[in-house]
Amino acid sequence: MPPPTPYENAIDLLDADHKAVKQLFIQYDALCEDGAPAEDKQQLAEKICNEIAIHAQIEEEIFYPEVRKATGDDALIDEAQQEHAAAKEAVAAIQGMSAGGEGYDEAVQGLARLIDQHVLEEREQIFLQAQYAALDLRGLAEPLARRKAQLKKKSAPKKAKEAA
Ligand SMILES: [Fe+2]
Ligand SMILES: [Fe+2]
Repeated sequence: MPPPTPYENAIDLLDADHKAVKQLFIQYDALCEDGAPAEDKQQLAEKICNEIAIHAQIEEEIFYPEVRKATGDDALIDEAQQEHAAAKEAVAAIQGMSAGGEGYDEAVQGLARLIDQHVLEEREQIFLQAQYAALDLRGLAEPLARRKAQLKKKSAPKKAKEAA
């Protein structure tokens, strides 16, 4: 039997991700204010990029298709996917930069603004519609959690090696 997830439903799980990534962006701002070393900032930015990539992937693979099916609102989901595409471009740009270089902090802060805006719309529109649609939000928590754990594991070996 798969392990139970600590989340009530899909929205709980996704919103916990949103809050976690928001906290990481706040931590990033604190590093900037403290004049932290570039490598500390780079490590945190990589974590942020990784979290966002995994979150976007589980939404696109599992959550968005279910909401699309249940609501029939293609425009809403298409727009969200475009926003994901913009966020992924910003993530790729950051991953191609070095934290000591010019424009790095601005790129991370730009990503933070994109994510803030997307999360706001997701909460107010997609989550709201999902709650009123014939959608098994409880049942979706488990596959989302399972896929997230799988993707995290895939991205982990690099970190384990660094720690060794
Ligand atoms: Fe989200
Ligand atoms: Fe999203």
